[in-house]
Amino acid sequence: MAGQIPPQFIDDLLTRVDITDVIDARVPLKKAGKNLQACCPFHNEKSPSFTVSPEKQFYHCFGCGAHGTAIGFLMEYDQMSFPESIHELAESVGMTVPTTQSLAPNPAKKNLYDLLDKVSQYYVHQLQTHPKRAEFVEYLKRRGLSDKTVEHFNIGMAPDGWDNVLKTFGGNKEAIQQLNEAGLLSSNDNGRTYDRFRNRVMFPIRDRRGRVIGFGGRVLDDSTPKYLNSPETPVFHKGHELYGLYQARKANRQLNRVVIVEGYMDVIALAEKGISNAVATLGTATTPEHLKQLQRSAPEVVFCFDGDRAGREAAWRAAENALPLLGGNHQLRFMFLPDGEDPDTLVKEQGADVFNQMVEQAKNYSDFFFESLESRLDINSMDGRARLVEIARPYLRHIPAGVYRDMFEQRLAERAQTSTSVLQKHLEKPPATQNKIKKTVQSSSGISPIRMAITILIQHPELHASVGEFDKIMALPDPGVTVLAQLLETLHQHPHLNTAALLERARDTEHGEHLKKLAIQTLKLSSEELQHELVGVVKQLQQQALKLRHELLMAKGLSQLTQEERQEIQQLGAILKR
Ligand code: UTP
Ligand code: MN
Repeated sequence: MAGQIPPQFIDDLLTRVDITDVIDARVPLKKAGKNLQACCPFHNEKSPSFTVSPEKQFYHCFGCGAHGTAIGFLMEYDQMSFPESIHELAESVGMTVPTTQSLAPNPAKKNLYDLLDKVSQYYVHQLQTHPKRAEFVEYLKRRGLSDKTVEHFNIGMAPDGWDNVLKTFGGNKEAIQQLNEAGLLSSNDNGRTYDRFRNRVMFPIRDRRGRVIGFGGRVLDDSTPKYLNSPETPVFHKGHELYGLYQARKANRQLNRVVIVEGYMDVIALAEKGISNAVATLGTATTPEHLKQLQRSAPEVVFCFDGDRAGREAAWRAAENALPLLGGNHQLRFMFLPDGEDPDTLVKEQGADVFNQMVEQAKNYSDFFFESLESRLDINSMDGRARLVEIARPYLRHIPAGVYRDMFEQRLAERAQTSTSVLQKHLEKPPATQNKIKKTVQSSSGISPIRMAITILIQHPELHASVGEFDKIMALPDPGVTVLAQLLETLHQHPHLNTAALLERARDTEHGEHLKKLAIQTLKLSSEELQHELVGVVKQLQQQALKLRHELLMAKGLSQLTQEERQEIQQLGAILKR
């Protein structure tokens, strides 16, 4: 990774530096159309095949395949390390390399992170010094938390009163505006502004890097809402973040497994008992984004749910969201607690060993999947088995093509007492993504449309601005789509990145090498055509994701749907008709 040097700095550096100057100073270049050329410094040749593109800020040798950014060039040519290259380049354009992350990104966001951190320290300080602290200390004791754990999770207290934070941090108009943006204030209909969190135990929520991005606050008694969370802010997105992931990564040099539980207090109570690999969603269902993050953190993810009906339903929803992420080297399992227990009460009453044992015995994904479906059917009758195939069908289409899906199909055939060949006739062949899109979007070069879209985007990042909505495409079972979605998301957040900056961001990631190869493909289309193609592919993908979701909901049968899901069907139906 980029080590201690913030990616934002590298982005800026790569927009200031001109690769042609950097290389020309070492290997004199000659103009050739819109590019520059020389005999390749990395292999012996007589006619020049080493090409530098000022537009992409990228070099490539057609003879030996060497390629990279200005940073990469210095690493290869001057034999510098990655940080050395950065320092060298920074010096050449009069920039100073920041040495810690705290000097990093986007100044507006940076201010929010700073403020949230200060407010978190304030809440902790209140718990240590406030005249009314006894009640809070008592509460945390009653919940079995040691000082060490309280400290480890930086638990604090928001004192009673309307304007403690407002007074302490809202010295002027601008500061108040900041507090508001950080989600720390509420206001009533009369426009009166006051502290959002009052008289609550405060749990700071950190992102995976440890920065405070929001809070959860719990009341001390039975009043409602029991938990109040920060609203969505520029730095806090509920559907992405996991409570405790930072602490779990810190406590375990290598995380082999994470357990997803439902509540803040569950994460903390487990940590108190030495189980330091639990995380919680922030009062939402587990989204594909959550799962992707977890799969990057640990090879095995175990969902822990209550054993009651609500727990089973939540588990099924999580299972649905997990479909596009099945297979590969990842394991997903499900465990259910006895009715009426949550992890907090269970470890307190029965100890960590019992909990650990239950984790060990968690069900495999496929066992859970088939047991859940079969519990609604009479699998002993032919009609029931036919129904099983019907219901399972749309789910299978969400699983990425590969060994896992093949085995899943085989298992379905076994359960339905039919053969895979009979089944195959009825299961539409899914890498639906690629095939369907091919029909509608002509890819000029014969490569797949998704690959084409990635190639266009990496070579012409500015075109991302014309792309429409892409928020649902992550759910499609195609690894290429994930790469495309991540690129779009990055550009959405940092609209001015150029090719070189995108590639440096991907350095040492799974897709880094792959992206570099796409960056040097020749695209023989005009810029309007490129734009048209990119926009078309993303639109198709979004549409397809919505359609898959619609099919899946429809296949459930009306009685199985929640109120929200019914609404979702209506909305999806309306969009898809357009
Ligand atoms: P639970 O009601 O199961 O809470 O909600 P809990 O974790 O067992 O809490 P304790 O043990 O009573 O303290 C689970 C999660 O749902 C969200 C929170 O994230 C909570 O941790 N939630 C719950 C809210 O956001 N708001 C609420 O009012 C209740
Ligand atoms: Mn609880």
